[in-house]
Amino acid sequence: MKSGDKLVVTAALPYANGPLHIGFLLEAIQADIYARSLRLSQKDVLYICASDMHGTPIEINAKKAGMEPEKFVDKYWKEHQEDAASFLISFDNFHKTHSKENKELSEHFFAELKKKKYIYIKNMDVIYCPKCQRSLPDRYVRGTCPLCGIADQYGDVCEGCGSVLKGTDLLNPKCSLCGTTPHVKSSPHYFFKLSAFAGKLKKWINSKSADLQPEVKNWLKEWLDKGLEDWCISRDAPYFGFEIPNSKKECGEVKYFYVWLDAPIGYISSTKNYCDTKSKNKNMKDKTNNKSCRWEEYWKKGQVTHFIGKDISYFHFLFWPAILMAMDIPLPKLTVHGFITVNGQKMSKSRGTFFTAKDFHKLYGAEALRFYYASHLQRRVVDVDLNFDEFAAVINNVLVGKLGNFCYRSLTFAEKNYAELPAAAENKALTKKVVSLSEKIKKNYLAQDYHAAIKNILTIADMGNAYFQKTEPWKNKDDPGTKTAVSWCVNLARNLAILINPVLPEFSKKVFHALDEKNRTFTDLHFRWKGKVEKVPLLVNKVEIVRKETFPLRLTVGKILEVKDHPNADSLYLLKVDLGQLGKKQVVAGLKKHFRKEDLTGRKAVFVANMKPAKLRGEMSEAMVLAADDGARVGLLEVEKMNPGEEVHFEGTENSHQEITFDEFIKINMAVQAGHVFYSGKKLISPLEEVRVHGVNDGAKVR
Ligand code: MSP
Ligand code: ZN
Repeated sequence: MKSGDKLVVTAALPYANGPLHIGFLLEAIQADIYARSLRLSQKDVLYICASDMHGTPIEINAKKAGMEPEKFVDKYWKEHQEDAASFLISFDNFHKTHSKENKELSEHFFAELKKKKYIYIKNMDVIYCPKCQRSLPDRYVRGTCPLCGIADQYGDVCEGCGSVLKGTDLLNPKCSLCGTTPHVKSSPHYFFKLSAFAGKLKKWINSKSADLQPEVKNWLKEWLDKGLEDWCISRDAPYFGFEIPNSKKECGEVKYFYVWLDAPIGYISSTKNYCDTKSKNKNMKDKTNNKSCRWEEYWKKGQVTHFIGKDISYFHFLFWPAILMAMDIPLPKLTVHGFITVNGQKMSKSRGTFFTAKDFHKLYGAEALRFYYASHLQRRVVDVDLNFDEFAAVINNVLVGKLGNFCYRSLTFAEKNYAELPAAAENKALTKKVVSLSEKIKKNYLAQDYHAAIKNILTIADMGNAYFQKTEPWKNKDDPGTKTAVSWCVNLARNLAILINPVLPEFSKKVFHALDEKNRTFTDLHFRWKGKVEKVPLLVNKVEIVRKETFPLRLTVGKILEVKDHPNADSLYLLKVDLGQLGKKQVVAGLKKHFRKEDLTGRKAVFVANMKPAKLRGEMSEAMVLAADDGARVGLLEVEKMNPGEEVHFEGTENSHQEITFDEFIKINMAVQAGHVFYSGKKLISPLEEVRVHGVNDGAKVR
């Protein structure tokens, strides 16, 4: 990085397809700390992000939500910005991939690549559902894994043996949307000649300037040794994306840019949108100021750093660099991080280990998460476990107990006892240590070793606490020596506030405010502050972990695939239910008096998935459907947005996965109130919606 360089830092563009969660926040915070450190080092840096708005899942989910895709993605675009701001993520711009800038740039890239003969058309087999009348992405086909024989796997990866698959590999494939057997259809598609870049990519990954993390280098070597296949960059209608110009003429039908083509271009178009907006505003305000802001200055002459999760490495280390090479744009630097686990488990809605940004913020606030993540981050591809016992210890004992405690006690002592503080005591030996640690901390940040930065900051805080303790300023407050010693402590608190600023911008601001300062950078680290300390607020709060109560039932969303009459009982049905990763189960249900078969088929409802399997009138029942009954009418517990296998919870509770017997089950009291289900005052909810019951009176019992 040269001085004067224009820098861009990015976080991967989150899909506008659901609320932001604490997994994405790991990345946004990691990149934010880097961007803030660069700003404090007085670099010209833009922190750029955007919503990734295209692709099949978004198109399908918008339809499910009964919304136009444009409206659907805009809703999340707004929400994501609010959530990011609440976690103090300092994006300079958060644009969208469904924008005029991105359309223009994507078309421009496509035209250039075509002109340079890196794009060609060839026939390709896709999986087509005749009932849905759409091509199915691998994720939307389910079937038996050809390698291990486990049934009901997604077409992109087998959860049984971990093999990476293609939808066309699956045996006995079914459309995951409607259950129909799809067929293979061949049609012309656009391909990008990735294979032509193998040599250049190999050279790049071994170059010093690429500065790849060792883990990443190994994956890349493996991928390159396997050989690169050309990459299909078009998709069939219906699709939410940009139409490929001339595709109707060239392919006989309209094709769209594959979301992964225009998404990384979104990094550039968000930069462009920032620059264009800025130039426009400047011109309006001040016609003489012609300092230009053009995306090319950042992307062609400056340095771009992408922060990404390990799951999207292939796109960012092979496809994207190859495209940039073809476009004569210098290659970015990349930092890959691992995944967030919660209490050692994969984050998942069905396990109740999924936290949206909003939920987490409500419980613990922004800076606790920023501090916890920072203390675990090291520019390494390792997963980060959000362990709540450790979280409480780190926040309460370390952040509050050490750093917060030193700054707060120094500042409040000064505020209470002195109208004005003189220049700080010289304190040579300690000051020297602080200066040398501060130098290290600045380097730690720029090397993205936040773990080390925090460790060094805490060393300084410990030194401060020990010094304060040893000095015992409360014993002879008015002694001139005491005053200069306290002033040194206040100066140290001020320096700590500057050093922790990339991680805890609010904490920092509060300290500056009490010293009547603002916007300090790393160049302001010194011991020359003197003056008045005023209005010291609480700097950090302890967290209290909200433990969830266990609820005995595993309340799981299931989709009713089939309804048959029970062979031996007039009032019973036999349901075949899709419970997602739990598989397909047979359920005996006493719903015959209240529902026709066609009213139930295809519906999603809440099931108890941990009932001990039992034979009911000679037929196995492997789960139980929940229904609300007011004596006259019966209603199912309905969910719209959740998928089979995902769990719903009573507020503040966690579902038990332990098997339960029918006798235990009937002791549990759940009832309907105003269309919602309650259990001892707690409402039944999911991360995405509230569970609803229609057509029954208040007080209806749920069984
Ligand atoms: N839209 C693509 C990225 C396009 S970039 C041109 C995408 N979106 S995403 O919403 O699925 O993920 C956004 C980022 O969040 C990715 O880098 C992903 O790795 C990261 N994370 C998503 N879940 C995560 C965890 N549980 N833990 C840590 N990071 C995770 O991929
Ligand atoms: Zn279908």
